Amino acid sequence: MAGRRGALIVLEGADRAGKSTQAKRLVEALKERGYKAEGMRFPERTTEIGKLVGSYLEKKSNLEDHTVHLLFSANRWEQVPLMKEKLRSGVTLVVDRYAFSGVAFTSSKKDFSLHWCKQPDIGLPKPDLVLFLDISPEAAAKRGDFGNERYETSDFQKKVQKRYAELMEDRSLNWEMIDAAQSMEDVHSAIRQMSEDIIEQAKDQPIGKLWI
Ligand code: TMP
Ligand code: MG
Repeated sequence: MAGRRGALIVLEGADRAGKSTQAKRLVEALKERGYKAEGMRFPERTTEIGKLVGSYLEKKSNLEDHTVHLLFSANRWEQVPLMKEKLRSGVTLVVDRYAFSGVAFTSSKKDFSLHWCKQPDIGLPKPDLVLFLDISPEAAAKRGDFGNERYETSDFQKKVQKRYAELMEDRSLNWEMIDAAQSMEDVHSAIRQMSEDIIEQAKDQPIGKLWI
């Protein structure tokens, strides 16, 4: 059967906003409702490139800032053939972080522009929906400590939030801001409804290209 592709749904947001939990629940809920759905996450730490990125995040290695930015992007590109194959076979992909994390995090470092940071991810499959789980740094802190990985400090996370806000000004993307301070259940029903709507809308449309 031609057409009838799956939707590309991305979850973004600060640490402790509940992205990974919500991504898993969303996949389960969509499957229960009869959709084909699978989860993915970036960085995908199991590939060769992903291992380099993982070791950098765990502070077991150091990498030059431009270099690691390009590795994060390459880690997405290496999944693109698989992503397209899945989408075309009707599978909806629920992705935990994507190019927006790439840009928001690197551009929070000194001397990195949003413009430069976007370049390597231009042309990736364009998400049909980007769910931004919005949580204040205070509310996030109440959910427990940050981990020990690189970037997990409140100063850096505040800069990242500002960069996300800049990225959300781009109206060529379908951003939906979700109040992540609500109960897990309320967040879940909100994003499930939005996801079901977008699956219906996207199914007969071609896969778009990000930032083109
Ligand atoms: P995780 O905790 O969701 O596995 O994400 C790992 C960290 O990597 C998180 O701090 C965000 C950061 N990151 C980037 O700096 N660039 C990227 O492209 C991605 C996907 C994540
Ligand atoms: Mg983390």
